[in-house]
Amino acid sequence: MKKSYRVAVVGATGAVGQVLLSILQERGFPVSELLLFASKRSQGKEIIWQEQLIPCRVLEPHCFNGVDFAFFDASDAVSKEWVPQAAQAGAWVIDNSATFRMHEDVLLLVPEVNGFLLHEKIQRFAQNAMHSKDRIVSGPNCSTVQMVLVLKVLEEFWGLKRVIVSTYQSTSGAGAEAVNELRQQTQDDLRGHSLTSHVFHYPIAFNCIPQIGEFQSNGYTSEECKMITESRKILRKSDLKITATAIRVPSILSHAESINVELEKSFDLSEIRKKFSEQEGILVLDDTSKNLYPMAIQARGQDAVYVGRIRRDESAENSLNLWVVSDNLRKGAALNAVQIGEEILSALSDLHGIV
Ligand SMILES: NC(=O)c1ccc[n+]([C@@H]2O[C@H](COP(=O)([O-])OP(=O)(O)OC[C@H]3O[C@@H](n4cnc5c(N)ncnc54)[C@H](OP(=O)(O)O)[C@@H]3O)[C@@H](O)[C@H]2O)c1
Repeated sequence: MKKSYRVAVVGATGAVGQVLLSILQERGFPVSELLLFASKRSQGKEIIWQEQLIPCRVLEPHCFNGVDFAFFDASDAVSKEWVPQAAQAGAWVIDNSATFRMHEDVLLLVPEVNGFLLHEKIQRFAQNAMHSKDRIVSGPNCSTVQMVLVLKVLEEFWGLKRVIVSTYQSTSGAGAEAVNELRQQTQDDLRGHSLTSHVFHYPIAFNCIPQIGEFQSNGYTSEECKMITESRKILRKSDLKITATAIRVPSILSHAESINVELEKSFDLSEIRKKFSEQEGILVLDDTSKNLYPMAIQARGQDAVYVGRIRRDESAENSLNLWVVSDNLRKGAALNAVQIGEEILSALSDLHGIV
């Protein structure tokens, strides 16, 4: 097994891509050479990584030859065209787009929740031939990641009966341009100028928009549908009763979620807090006597999924209210992707072998 790897990042100039580059460095992902890809408009733009200036390239045939790991953080369309080519060229592909998430053969991973599936899959390759599509692993939607980490604990110890979630999602969840739009509109509004919107359907400054993604025939948005279908897949509970309302709010970073959960069994609140505290990736911040609860300003730049306002829902049996906050660019996307890369390395090293 190699000691370091040729790594490609597609979407290196974007909101997720930029954070991914820092996390690769922070966590010491074993990179021997880094290849950066972005759109034509960034061609030749140099990005500093580990004191080297690395130029951005455009995607072209054979550009993944010799690449061991390819992180895709561009768009659904880019992933649809190029992810299969990267896998065909022999790379492990960690894709943050929605394109392959619900494919039956593709793992949709939050390592703390279902990372073991990757180990099982890679173990099976010891017996059977590996197809290129087996090298594709998807990362979930950002609002799904933080929710399933919390739901996993509740499902494991109490059983989930029904989940009702409402989100308060930051503009960076819609990419770097969306953050620029919020900043510009905020300045324009304060100066009394009229506001123009390109990324969102309506001005986001000083507003909340009850639409993330496009509306589906059932009245839900695509973001809400992703939260529902992806959670069922990750928790391996296809009959999970879950409903979601996704709202865009005028913050820059971190998503918050109000989650109401009905459990199968009765519970003790202190036991719920204890089990959350013991779960890798979760930090409990919940002391109402000190006005302590998670907010976007705590979560930004942090790895943890923060949980607070843990309280009984007094209107229904065995029910619980939670407030869950996490940095959408880190655990919601880039950190989760790098953790998947680390999980692949660990599974391969268990096999003594193959990349
Ligand atoms: N933002 C989040 O919180 C989040 C969370 C989970 C998953 N995701 C997913 O992660 C992906 C990236 O999201 P983002 O928020 O980082 O978007 P973003 O800020 O808009 O960045 C998009 C990136 O893709 C690049 N790109 C665009 N067209 C390309 C092409 N034809 N070839 C190569 N690169 C191209 C852009 O390059 P230029 O700068 O040159 O245009 C930019 O680097 C999306 O699939 C998104 O759904 C995002």
